[in-house]
Amino acid sequence: MGDGSFWLPEAGSSLASELDVLFYFVIWVSTIIFVLVVAAMAYFTVKYRRKSPNERPPLLHEHKLLETAWIVIPTILVLIVFTWGFRSYVKLTVAPADAYEVYVEGYKWGWRFIHPDPGFEDPYAELTVPVGRPIKLIMSSDDVLHSFFIPAFRVKHDVLPNRYTSLWFEAEEEGQYQVFCTEYCGTQHSGMLAEVNVVSEEEFAEYLSSRGGDLETLPLVEHGEILYGAQACANCHTVDGSSLVGPSFQGLFGATREFQDGTSAIADEDYLRESIINPHAKAVVGYPAQGMPNTYQGFSERELSALVEFIKAQE
Ligand code: CUA
Repeated sequence: MGDGSFWLPEAGSSLASELDVLFYFVIWVSTIIFVLVVAAMAYFTVKYRRKSPNERPPLLHEHKLLETAWIVIPTILVLIVFTWGFRSYVKLTVAPADAYEVYVEGYKWGWRFIHPDPGFEDPYAELTVPVGRPIKLIMSSDDVLHSFFIPAFRVKHDVLPNRYTSLWFEAEEEGQYQVFCTEYCGTQHSGMLAEVNVVSEEEFAEYLSSRGGDLETLPLVEHGEILYGAQACANCHTVDGSSLVGPSFQGLFGATREFQDGTSAIADEDYLRESIINPHAKAVVGYPAQGMPNTYQGFSERELSALVEFIKAQE
């Protein structure tokens, strides 16, 4: 782990140093411009102060080069920050396709970390992940708005009830990294802490194989398959590509869905989740407008995650 600096905590992820350089660029450019403007202001205040009550200023014409310069130079600086920031933002937002995925559940007041395969929950307030591998967190909340923040990795995202949000990181060194909730969520908000425990690949493999057991620890895909049967999903949704009352799950994840209101979207985790608990929100073209009955709202977070993982597996 690095030591951090006066301004920022240690940079522990693959993107952290890149974001820090941008941050320092913005800080130093702003500081230099601030100093120049204030110095010029102070200098002119003294130099051009009115020395007697009768003094009148001479008539001045604008200096074309100077005026052009103070329009063009700041514009270029702003465009540099925009381009740089946008490229980093895209990297920060789009998780690599081979990322290791963990479901995160925020609640008043704590975090649960659920590994899809083999399905199990990490011990209280501790997320264990391997070093040097992209980790994607798929997050939702049981109750109110929370926000998941790992300062050392420079990643933060709101965690909302009734939908998934996600963030990703790749830790560069083994160690313990602090997690905060950064959205005021009630009396114990400041105690809503957790730690990311970054371990070596070997240690992580050992950790995975030491877990396992009942339904709660079943791989999410298998848990989802059990629900698919038990909740009668199969009456309307096949997994072989044929259409019944509802669309087949085969090839559904990642496909572009066309809706009856003319819009479309990629079927990602959040779309699947929404379509399970609120099937009318995005009615797919070609299927009855009434969609499926609104009787699928009582799932726990684990059950929803299990169904999402099951649908994802139907390639
Ligand atoms: Cu959860 Cu603040």
